[in-house]
Amino acid sequence: MCPVVRRIRADEALRLRAFRLRALADAPTAFGSTLAREEAFPESVWHERASAGAAGSDRATFVAEQDGQWIGLATGLAEDPEDPKLPGPVLVGMFVDRAERRRGVGVALVEAVSDWARQRGAARLSLWVFPSNEPGIALYTRCGFRLTGETKSLDRAPTLTELRMTRVLP
Ligand SMILES: CC(C)(COP(=O)(O)OP(=O)(O)OC[C@H]1O[C@@H](n2cnc3c(N)ncnc32)[C@H](O)[C@@H]1OP(=O)(O)O)[C@@H](O)C(=O)NCCC(=O)NCCS
Repeated sequence: MCPVVRRIRADEALRLRAFRLRALADAPTAFGSTLAREEAFPESVWHERASAGAAGSDRATFVAEQDGQWIGLATGLAEDPEDPKLPGPVLVGMFVDRAERRRGVGVALVEAVSDWARQRGAARLSLWVFPSNEPGIALYTRCGFRLTGETKSLDRAPTLTELRMTRVLP
């Protein structure tokens, strides 16, 4: 069966926690956050993320689901949590299960977040990616994102720098 991309439901907080922690364990160098940091979050954080991701106007979380299993996840945020002075919205937390990669799931998730951003009236969608993340940069370039030349270093590891990419929404 083909994967379906849909918005998360408010009652899926624990599923969100499990999948996000799996993503952080699987791809520890891809995200600004860490497994140790998010494992320590109280359950209330996951309930808030699921409720806001399901219905909030400032956050939208999309899951790719196949045969009832989650195989991908991505979130749109109205504001850049790292630097609210930069124009939002931003795409964060993009992850596709290893076994399901190169099947177009990443593109489908980018398009779901882009549709949400467009519906909010945004003309652009941005994201941050590490320069070493070749699959990520390839996916985003394929979807029309371009490097802006802006960089930022991580608070938790100032030697690590992320690159900003922006897509003009068609
Ligand atoms: C990056 C990631 C989300 C891509 O997901 P995906 O479902 O495999 O992406 P898609 O199948 O939609 O790929 C679309 C296109 O992106 C490019 N691409 C994706 N992965 C690539 C790779 N490993 N090498 C080269 N190009 C790649 C290709 O152009 C691909 O099209 P093609 O398969 O027809 O050649 C996935 O590799 C992943 O979850 N990585 C770990 C987490 C991560 O890095 N997240 C991003 C944080 S910023």
